[in-house]
Amino acid sequence: MDVQGVRAVYRRYARHYDRYFGKVFHQGRKLAIDQMGILPGQHVLEVGVGTGLSLPEYPQGVRVTGIDLSPEMIEGAQARVDALGLADVALHEMDASAMDFPDASFDHVVAMYVLSVAPEPERVIAEMRRVCKPGGRLYIVNHFRHANLLISGLERAMAPLSQLLGFRPDFALDEFIARNDLDVIEALPVNLFGYWTLLTAAREPADDVMASADVRPAGSH
Ligand SMILES: C[S@@+](CC[C@H](N)C(=O)[O-])C[C@H]1O[C@@H](n2cnc3c(N)ncnc32)[C@H](O)[C@@H]1O
Repeated sequence: MDVQGVRAVYRRYARHYDRYFGKVFHQGRKLAIDQMGILPGQHVLEVGVGTGLSLPEYPQGVRVTGIDLSPEMIEGAQARVDALGLADVALHEMDASAMDFPDASFDHVVAMYVLSVAPEPERVIAEMRRVCKPGGRLYIVNHFRHANLLISGLERAMAPLSQLLGFRPDFALDEFIARNDLDVIEALPVNLFGYWTLLTAAREPADDVMASADVRPAGSH
């Protein structure tokens, strides 16, 4: 799916997004924010912030910048910020694969349910690294291909429908980690049946150091 395709999908989804994807994905959002251990005054970047369902979960005194490709999703996020009077939240329409921010701008960088939607996930990861401060961490919540052969077969069969679904259902965790040279610190199953994964990775690539974490795709436990 290209940038225009993503915008078209989320133009359609924006109005009903919260009803369908609010509660069901919320545990992952909350856990990602809890895992960051954000300190007062720190600055978080949320890429693909969508309608801002995560925004009320950030602790007070934290600066949050949210970006998204879709103007309609950003409008939803801005409406939430205004309705809840959330201070210190800035929202921008921006492509996460080519961000306007200087290097090392943020203490924490997170992408929730974005990478299997983004047209160029590797460029998004490269940009997340670039704008994160050295020594910082990347947080990724995503669905990865299921370990169960029957389910993963179904996901592969659904892959040609990704344009319609708005995400790639057959995104493989191990390939994703290897392609992006991610030094994974932790991988936790989240949401319904642990079908999604919260990955915590070091900003710096693994290079040839083996990631020592217990990395299991959802469903393999
Ligand atoms: C499934 S929604 C997730 C929204 C939100 N993170 C949540 O937890 O509900 C995926 C979002 O990623 C955005 N997105 C996809 N590719 C992007 C990119 N390259 N740059 C910025 N946003 C992107 C889409 O526009 C959409 O709003």
